[in-house]
Amino acid sequence: MIDKKRANEKFVILTAYDCLTAQLLEKSGVEYILVGDSLGNMFAGYDNTLPVTVEQMIYHGKAVCAGTEEALVIMDMPYMSYQVSNEDAILNAGRLIKEAGGKAVKIEVNPNQIDRVKAVVDSGIEVIGHIGLTPQTVYQLGGYGLQGKDQEVSDKLSQLALALEKAGCFSVLFEKIPSALAAKLTSELTIPTLGIGAGVDCDGQILVTQDVLGATEGKPLKFVKQYASVFDASKKALEYFIEDVKTSQFPGEAHSF
Ligand code: KIV
Repeated sequence: MIDKKRANEKFVILTAYDCLTAQLLEKSGVEYILVGDSLGNMFAGYDNTLPVTVEQMIYHGKAVCAGTEEALVIMDMPYMSYQVSNEDAILNAGRLIKEAGGKAVKIEVNPNQIDRVKAVVDSGIEVIGHIGLTPQTVYQLGGYGLQGKDQEVSDKLSQLALALEKAGCFSVLFEKIPSALAAKLTSELTIPTLGIGAGVDCDGQILVTQDVLGATEGKPLKFVKQYASVFDASKKALEYFIEDVKTSQFPGEAHSF
């Protein structure tokens, strides 16, 4: 990533929770894959990411790693896998590398957790620090709104981003912060920045794959651009299949022995 920032070359990270999606991403040219704890919402159907466990992350991480050859797989550290102590954080980050096969971890960080991040980095594990809207602290933040609108929070986010670079993170991810703040921080930091709902000036862009593909029902979030309508196309295909079975069009001669 750092070489891309130095060369002024934008890059993409997308999420995967399974082997087939990982293969699809890699075949499409995606170089970085996040096994996001968004699998809590997108795969398991939970209301938020809080119930996701290290075991679930390892299960999905293994599946994603099985589908990749070249892509760098980054593992999200789920809620309560790093909040309690440095020891917990190192142990759980280590499990995501050792058991799932990821090459780096992503941690949602608040200003009190810089030492936690540093402890994981110092143990020899690559870390992305995730700031701005941090879904694991949804109750403390009071929802999923834009972060850093007012000067006080904006200043805190700036200090946090710089502290994460100093702590040894190889990248900082900004979720749902004003584009101008993300642009300012991207020019101040020497490490690459990743944006989701953080404007065009971040070094790289990250989205949930199902959102990009239109694989979910309903209206997309403001920061998502859909490039396909996989949900609608799949629904139509399944309706045709049901109709074919009901009218004895399937299986035909070609599908029979
Ligand atoms: O869990 C996730 O998918 C994320 C995002 C930044 C996309 O953290």
